[in-house]
Amino acid sequence: MSDLQPAPRALITGITGQDGSYLTEFLLDRGYEVHGLVRRTSTFARERIDHLHLDPEGSRLLLHYGDMADGNSLSRLVLQIRPDEVYNLAAQSHVAVSFQNPLYSADVDALGTLRLLEAVRQLDRPVRFYQASSSEMYGKVVETPQTESTPFHPRSPYAVAKVYSYWQTVNYREAYGLHASNGILFNHESPRRGETFVTRKITRAATRIKLGLQEQILLGNLDAERDWGFAGDFVEAMWLMLQQDEPSDYVVATGRRASVRTFCEAVFGMLDLDWSDHVGIDKRYLRPAEVDLLQGDASKAARILGWKPRTSFDELVRMMVTADLELARQERALVDAGLKQPAWRDGRPG
Ligand code: NAP
Ligand code: GDD
Repeated sequence: MSDLQPAPRALITGITGQDGSYLTEFLLDRGYEVHGLVRRTSTFARERIDHLHLDPEGSRLLLHYGDMADGNSLSRLVLQIRPDEVYNLAAQSHVAVSFQNPLYSADVDALGTLRLLEAVRQLDRPVRFYQASSSEMYGKVVETPQTESTPFHPRSPYAVAKVYSYWQTVNYREAYGLHASNGILFNHESPRRGETFVTRKITRAATRIKLGLQEQILLGNLDAERDWGFAGDFVEAMWLMLQQDEPSDYVVATGRRASVRTFCEAVFGMLDLDWSDHVGIDKRYLRPAEVDLLQGDASKAARILGWKPRTSFDELVRMMVTADLELARQERALVDAGLKQPAWRDGRPG
C-alpha cells in the first residue's frame, strides 16, 4: 500500500470463527486495516486469531465488542469504523444446534443480517457487503450439481434463516443499489474447523484413538454426502466478489462430493487404522430433517472471478490429520507426565 493511499478498511463479523481467521490473514496480507466484531464470552475464544496480534501486521487488526443480536452495537461500529468492505460471517452456524435453538438461530442468522444491512445503508459512503450464504439453502436438492439458479428448499432453522439473509442481501442490492453479494459456499473445512462439525470431530477422534487417548467415536448419518473444500481457498472467493464492478451471487465449491463414511475411511486409513473398528452410531446425532447430498457447480465463480479451489480432498484430509495428530501428541505428553487426565474418552458431542 502506498503512503499516499490510506489502507482499505474491512469490518468482519464472525472474525473469531474458522472463516474469519483465514479472511483476516488474507486481508492483512493485502494491506487492509481489519476491524473485527467480537462478542463477550466467559472464556477467551480468540485462539484462531491470537497469532495475528503477534505479527507486525497485527497493529492493523482491531477488535470491537458487539453482537449480531444488538442492532445498536452494529450501527455504532459501522458509523465509527466507516469500512470500505463488510464481511458478514457471524452466525450460529451449527445445523443440528439450530433445531434446538431455532429462535436464537433466526435472531442471529436472519435478523442479524438485516440489522447489519440497515447499519450499512445509513453510512454516507459506498460500502461493499458480503453475505455468508450457504449450500444448506438447497437442502432437499432438486438437481445436482447445484448452481446459482437451483431453487432453495431449506431443511433446518439454520438454513431457513440463511435463505432470509440471502434474499435481504439481494433486496438491498436491488432496492438501494448497495454493492451486496452472496457467496453460496459449500462445506469448507480446515485444522481450525469447530470440533463439533463432522470432519473435525472425526480427525480429532481418530488421532486421539491412534495415541490411546480415546476409544471410539459416535456419529450419526454416515451416508450424507458433502462437497468438502479447504476454508483457506474459499475466503479468497469472498474477497474477489467485493472487487468486482458489479455485485452478484456466486456458488463456491469444489465440484466433487464424498460421504461421511468415505471421510472416515480416508482419515482412519491415513493413520493405519480400520475405521469400522472405532466408529459407532448414536441416534442423538441424527437430525429431524437431513440434507442428503450437496455438490456445487462453481463455474460462474471460475468464469467471472477467476476463482478455483487449490486443495484436493486428500490434501485437506492430510492437513487436518497432521494438525490434530500434533494436538494429540501434546495431550499424550501431558497425560504421560501425570499433568492431565484424558478427557471425553468416547468423543465430544456434536
Ligand atoms: P464458525 O467457525 O462457527 O464461526 C462463527 C462466528 O460467528 C464466530 O466468530 C462466532 O463467535 C460468531 N458469532 C456467533 N454468534 C454471534 C453473535 N450473536 N454475535 C456476534 N458474533 C457471533 O463459522 P464458519 O465456519 O467460520 O462460517 C462462517 C460463516 O459462513 C457462517 O455464517 C456460516 O453459517 C457460513 N457458512 C459456513 C460454511 C462452512 O462450511 N464453514 C459454509 C457455508 C456458509 P464466537 O467465536 O464467539 O462463537
Ligand atoms: N456435526 C455432525 N456430527 N454431523 C454428523 C455427525 C456427527 O456426529 N454424524 C453424521 N453427520 C452428518 C450430518 O448429519 C450432516 O449430514 C453431515 O455429517 C455434515 O454435518 P456438519 O459437519 O455438521 O456440517 P453441515 O453440512 O450440517 O453444515 C456445515 O456446512 C454448511 C454448508 O453446507 C456448517 O458449516 C454450516 O454452517 C454450513 O452452512
